[in-house]
Amino acid sequence: MRSIDDWLEPRLARAAALAASGEMVADAANGAAPGTGLHLGIDLGTSDVVSMVLDAQGNPVAVRLDWADVVRDGVVWDFFGAVQIVRRQIESLAAQLGERLPRRAATSYPPGTDPRISVNVIEAAELEVSGVIDEPSAVAALLQLDRAAVVDIGGGTTGVAVVQQGRIVYSGDEPTGGHHVTLTLAGARNLPLTEAEALKRRADNAALWPVVRPVFDKMAHIVDTHLQGQQVDTLYLSGGSCSMPGVRDLFAQVFPHLQVILPRPPLFLTPLAIAAHGLPGARPQAET
Ligand SMILES: Nc1ncnc2c1ncn2[C@@H]1O[C@H](COP(=O)(O)OP(=O)(O)OP(=O)(O)O)[C@@H](O)[C@H]1O
Ligand SMILES: [Mg+2]
Repeated sequence: MRSIDDWLEPRLARAAALAASGEMVADAANGAAPGTGLHLGIDLGTSDVVSMVLDAQGNPVAVRLDWADVVRDGVVWDFFGAVQIVRRQIESLAAQLGERLPRRAATSYPPGTDPRISVNVIEAAELEVSGVIDEPSAVAALLQLDRAAVVDIGGGTTGVAVVQQGRIVYSGDEPTGGHHVTLTLAGARNLPLTEAEALKRRADNAALWPVVRPVFDKMAHIVDTHLQGQQVDTLYLSGGSCSMPGVRDLFAQVFPHLQVILPRPPLFLTPLAIAAHGLPGARPQAET
């Protein structure tokens, strides 16, 4: 198992800093021959599209994040919008990395949806697909988990995957995510959705917890339903919605028999896991 403190969180922090600055880590990308050494992953999410480039050690080298409304309920509904965003991100990454930018990308899909939709977007953006994996399974593989559940609370869905002895034995996805948190906040405060979304993401959002907690109660209930009968010791939380203060403690209360771990910042865990799909290391196979 990879260490959360020493291995994962420094990479997540670096991804967040790179996404915010739009720059890259000069030293990490140098030395890699064209087309080798670097790994590209593209996460087409309900709330955002993230392209991340990693070096051979899984350190983020360059990251692009665009908030976007091209995926709904785990399905790409604005295909051309999605392709345009991916193309723009790739052009921007190529401007920094030149020939070292891989022309092959790993991508993902929420469990239960058709992986070909993401594949079609990547191919329409003139990239080759190096691999495709469902989102919670990607996180389970990245962290080399055993007897664990991964819960990915993104913008549109809550995904659950269970890992046993290096294999994904169960995965599921339900259409409740951060968008529903924003809807609840907008209703309670009588705000337009865009303002509620911005308010929710502010650094001082802890005071909003009592308003949005019922939505997270529902998510925890969804997870509980999916985990019935599963043998797990640890629950890992991923996805941007887990940034909301209070989420870890709520899950710890609902699942007192499990160790609940929330690596920070959780917005970048799934994109990191997707980009790392091609890296050497334990890679559990999804049950087919
Ligand atoms: N600081 C924050 N506080 C609270 N919520 C946040 C914060 N940052 C992002 N979010 C929420 O996280 C969600 C986006 O997370 P993520 O990028 O994991 O989702 P996604 O991959 O786009 O969606 P999905 O996986 O459901 O398709 C949005 O609902 C956004 O409002
Ligand atoms: Mg996601």
